[in-house]
Formats: sequence, structure tokens, C-alpha cells
Amino acid sequence: MAKEVVLSGIRPTGFLHLGNYFGAMRNYVRMQDEYNCYFFVANWHSLTTHPNTAELQLSVHRVIAENIACGLNPEKVALYVQSDVPEIAELYLYLNMLAYKGELEKTASFKEKVRLNPENVNAGLLTYPVLMASDILIHRAVKVPVGKDQEQHLEMARNFAQRFNYRYGNVFPEPYAFNYGGELIKILSLDGNGKMSKSENQMATLYLADDDDTIKKKIMKAKTDGGPTEPNSDMPDYIKNIFTLMKQVSTADTVKKFEDDFNNSSTGNVIIRYGDMKKQLAEDMISFIKPIREKAADIQNNKELLFKIITQGADKARASATNTLQEVRKAMRMIY
Ligand code: ADP
Ligand code: TRP
Repeated sequence: MAKEVVLSGIRPTGFLHLGNYFGAMRNYVRMQDEYNCYFFVANWHSLTTHPNTAELQLSVHRVIAENIACGLNPEKVALYVQSDVPEIAELYLYLNMLAYKGELEKTASFKEKVRLNPENVNAGLLTYPVLMASDILIHRAVKVPVGKDQEQHLEMARNFAQRFNYRYGNVFPEPYAFNYGGELIKILSLDGNGKMSKSENQMATLYLADDDDTIKKKIMKAKTDGGPTEPNSDMPDYIKNIFTLMKQVSTADTVKKFEDDFNNSSTGNVIIRYGDMKKQLAEDMISFIKPIREKAADIQNNKELLFKIITQGADKARASATNTLQEVRKAMRMIY
């Protein structure tokens, strides 16, 4: 049986961080044997909010390099840059004729971006969900690993697919957000304010490109408190987050030791030492991030290799995209 098609896109708008790794990239890596995977850098999407392209090439190269350093194998998956697949733009044109101004204006992400940046409400921003639907439908993908904030975009992609199928004939399957393995982990910011994110406090965000000293400094500054006031207390979110991070990078024995220390602590008898815990976490985090950072830097500095990977990805993606577009044109009777 043919493998199901999985697809996801990453906007090259900043450095990738641990939230991206544990919430997204690690799952991409696990999926590559089981599914027919397409992962791409959404550089057209980034133009809707970041029109300055001075750093774009660097960011695109970094996203590609970091994804490979995290374990994506360009031989197994199609890893490509959106703008290398012009077929997506043609499908976007057709789907734009099936998308209504009213529904686009009602999209939550559109309203949020208008609020944040009222001087640049461009047509690309309005039709962002149409472009995203084109990214997905061009490979007839059915499983789309994304976070909760993308749910509405997926629903719109299903609507556009249905409208196309209804009007012109059955070409597209309906895509759904996909949560691989069930548990979704959320990494919080080290200052305890919300989720770790590209756009939040940089000192509270651990990037895959951070050097050893920076990792240590950031972790030692992570928010803690005076310790639990009674045995087996509930953990505040910011303490739970330190344990979550530790579970990802430290040994089970290490985690257990600090969990026991936490559970046996109370006012006047605080056994857990957050300073020691953070020191241990910093050490283990450095061992975890260092090889990824170094591998990513090696790839990024090797322009020949990057070019080869990007070209190979584009070839794979275009083969599949051309196929779908032929079906689309046939269904629309646009063959002359
Ligand atoms: P950011 O918020 O840093 O801009 P994106 O919204 O581009 O990140 O998300 C890219 C992927 O990384 C999504 O699949 C998202 O669910 C995941 N992700 C982002 N931040 C976190 C986080 N703090 N914890 C877990 N997953 C996250
Ligand atoms: N909109 C997604 C985000 O902001 C990025 C993206 C673009 C995407 N095209 C996609 C994700 C197609 C999944 C499938 O994170």
C-alpha cells in the first residue's frame, strides 16, 4: 500500500528553539520512515509579514541545516524551499478564485496580524490560508503535523479542497492536523511567561544555535522559587518546565533524584536545590545541543552540500507537484 503523505512547513522568520525541536522537529524525524514526507521552508509565507529579504537566504539555509542536524534525512524525505516549486503558485491562483473575501477576513491569524501591524495589510496576508492550502494540496497530503494555532488554517484547506472537488471533480483528499504519537509537549519560556517562542524574550528562549556559555547562562537564570512548602506539592508551571526539559535531555536517574528531592521538601526542610538542578540541566542541555549546533554550522558553511540538498528536495517536490497540477488542469479542462 502507498504510504500516506505527511507535510509541514516552517516559516524562516527566526532561530529555531527547543519548543520547535520538542514540539515539531523531533516528530518529523520519527515520521520519516513511516510516511511519505514533505517538509519545506515557507519563504513565500514569510514575505507576508517580513518583506525585507536581506537575511532571507541565510534564514532559509539555517532552517534546512538545523532540520538535517536534528535528524531529518534528505534521502528519505523531500526537504525543499517553497519558492523552488512554482506549481504551488499556480494552484494558489486557482484556489484564490474559490476563496471568499469574507471568510479570509474572519480568519483569526489574519485579524491578529492586522492588529499587530496595521500599516502592512497586504493581499498576501489576507490570502495566507489559500497559499497554505496550496502547499498541502499540491502533494495531496492528508496528515499535517502542526500546533493548535494552525487548526483553523487546516479547516480552510479542507473547505477549499471540497469546493474544488465539487466544482471540477474529485482531485483532493481532505487534510487534517496530525499529532504524532498522541502526546504533545509544550515547552515554556524560562522566565515563566508563556510558551517558549521565536518572538518572546530571547534570554528565556534556548536556541539550537546557542553556544555553551549562553545555554548555561540562560538556564541558571531560569525562574525558580524558595522550594515547596509541603511534601508532594503541586509544581508551579515554571518548575514543571525545568523538569520537562530535564526529562528530555538527562538520565532517568537524574530526573528521579530531583523529583524525590522535590517531593520530600517542605518549609524549613527544603531538600531540593534548584541551583544544583539547573547546573545539572545546563550540563546535559549543552551535551544535547552542542552536536546539533555543530552539525548545523558545518552544513550551513558547506554551500555545495546545501545546494545539493535543496536541489534534490526541489526535484522530488516538483515531481509530485507536477503530477497533481496535471490532474487539476485536466479537471478544470485547461488543457489546450
Ligand atoms: P514560534 O512560536 O516560535 O514562532 P512556530 O509558531 O513557528 O513557533 O511553530 C513551529 C512549530 O513548533 C509548531 O509545530 C509549533 O507547535 C511548535 N512549537 C513552537 N513553540 C513551541 C513550544 N514552546 N512548545 C512546543 N512546541 C512548540
Ligand atoms: N502557517 C504555518 C505556521 O505559521 C507555516 C506553514 C505554511 C505550513 N504552509 C504550511 C504548515 C503548510 C503546515 C502546512 O507555522
